[in-house]
Amino acid sequence: MTFDYKVADLSLAEAGRHQIRLAEHEMPGLMALRAEYADAQPLAGARIAGSLHMTVQTAVLIETLTSLGAEVRWASCNIFSTQDEAAAAVVVGHGSVEEPAGVPVFAWKNETLEDYWWTATQILTWPGQADGLGPNMILDDGGDATMLVHRGAEFEALGAVPAGPQEGDADYSHEYTVFLDTVRATFESEPQKWTTIAAGIKGVTEETTTGVHRLYQLAAQGNLLFPAINVNDSVTKSKFDNKYGIRHSLPDGLNRATDVLIGGKVAVVCGYGDVGKGAAEALRGQGARVIVTEIDPICALQAVMDGYQVAALESVLAQGDIFITTTGNKDVIMAEHMARMKHQAIVGNIGHFDNEIDLAGLSRLPGIERIEIKPQVHEWVIPANLDGSVDEHSIIMLSEGRLLNLGNATGHPSFVMSNSFANQTIAQIELYTKVGQQDAEGNQEYENEVYVLPKILDEKVARLHLDALGVELTELTKGQAEYLDVDVAGPYKSDQYRY
Ligand code: NAI
Repeated sequence: MTFDYKVADLSLAEAGRHQIRLAEHEMPGLMALRAEYADAQPLAGARIAGSLHMTVQTAVLIETLTSLGAEVRWASCNIFSTQDEAAAAVVVGHGSVEEPAGVPVFAWKNETLEDYWWTATQILTWPGQADGLGPNMILDDGGDATMLVHRGAEFEALGAVPAGPQEGDADYSHEYTVFLDTVRATFESEPQKWTTIAAGIKGVTEETTTGVHRLYQLAAQGNLLFPAINVNDSVTKSKFDNKYGIRHSLPDGLNRATDVLIGGKVAVVCGYGDVGKGAAEALRGQGARVIVTEIDPICALQAVMDGYQVAALESVLAQGDIFITTTGNKDVIMAEHMARMKHQAIVGNIGHFDNEIDLAGLSRLPGIERIEIKPQVHEWVIPANLDGSVDEHSIIMLSEGRLLNLGNATGHPSFVMSNSFANQTIAQIELYTKVGQQDAEGNQEYENEVYVLPKILDEKVARLHLDALGVELTELTKGQAEYLDVDVAGPYKSDQYRY
């Protein structure tokens, strides 16, 4: 079987397959769903365009989707996050390096931005289908695939791709310029490309906080073109992956990048949401003194109650040895902040996009020098007397400001991703089988809105992971269930409960 794909090196497939095999054992949720739906094949006919970090864990997700009947095309949602051996193994599948027979993957570690948007267009184009027929589902992480379809369709309706901010404008972004060029490239040859693709899509399931934020914005403007499931806000996703996943993969990234001893250092964590909580706990666990910055009084109060100092970034620039952004916001650590840091302070971001740290501003500081220590680790030498700095000093920037747990390490471990990806799989089945269907009252099951999975399914995902960890769950008696006004089989909490 021949098919199109682009990965770094297919000869890595065997190494990838070994890692995937070990990961499967650590992903009981996904393996249970494979067994449960093996006969029913609920994703038969689904054509899923996946845009999510192409790691070993994602390989297990992809092969779960195909084992439930889906056809899949995959790209990574970050230029640094692909594990090349995993990508190769997924392409080879049950075939061989000479005759790959797996899934078309378009992902490799260290893509350019031009590559990145090219890979996004590849997953949204379905060769072999009747003219113009693309995917009928999107599985997204951060919302770039969804954005490409939406903005593409929007520009087609306008009849033009806007010029966008130019170099020198305050809001100029190279990333956005490359994105606009990508849409422009197909504009004349395929004038209805994105509109047609959008019309064929039943729904999207979104993995992360930042992507979900974009979806709610689209829905509020009335511009969401298909129904969406917010996977991030399943409790078994954000309260696990974002927190315990980060607790594991942040120190992993720091260690692989720098191997600096974390114990005894002062670590500044910007943001104390789910990711910030995991980050702060991990750094404290390694013996660092952690200082948190927050804009939300509730999260600031949580941080201080958890025993962390809460301070403004400006007050602690000279104290911090390690600075980590976890906000999902933009412009958090600016060039003038970095100019005032200690010599060899480590600066990294673990939020979804690279706009939390002002790398563009840093690179514009007069006399600044950038030295590559190794891929995804750069020393920036800042001259003396610049923006409040006293002596010449350098800072160590991880993954060029992109999420360092995936750029410098391999992301979250399998067990936690089994929870996230079990939610993804259930959400894909839910939308694929129900969008366009009517409920008992004759209403559409799903409108063009953003939904979360029902709590009973969230509890199911958790349940699928208990045995592997030897958990003995206490069962409610009928009397207790009546007293609490819940069903013995769940759900056990109201939708307002915050865990
Ligand atoms: P969240 O919304 O729970 O937390 C973000 C926190 O940052 C909030 O408490 C907010 O008040 C605070 N914040 C916003 N602006 C700030 C500022 N200027 N200074 C200080 N604090 C500020 O979001 P969550 O779930 O913690 O996700 C954070 C980011 O991490 C998102 O971009 C998300 O997509 C990403 N993410 C990355 C993962 C990874 O593996 N690297 C895994 C999961 C999420």
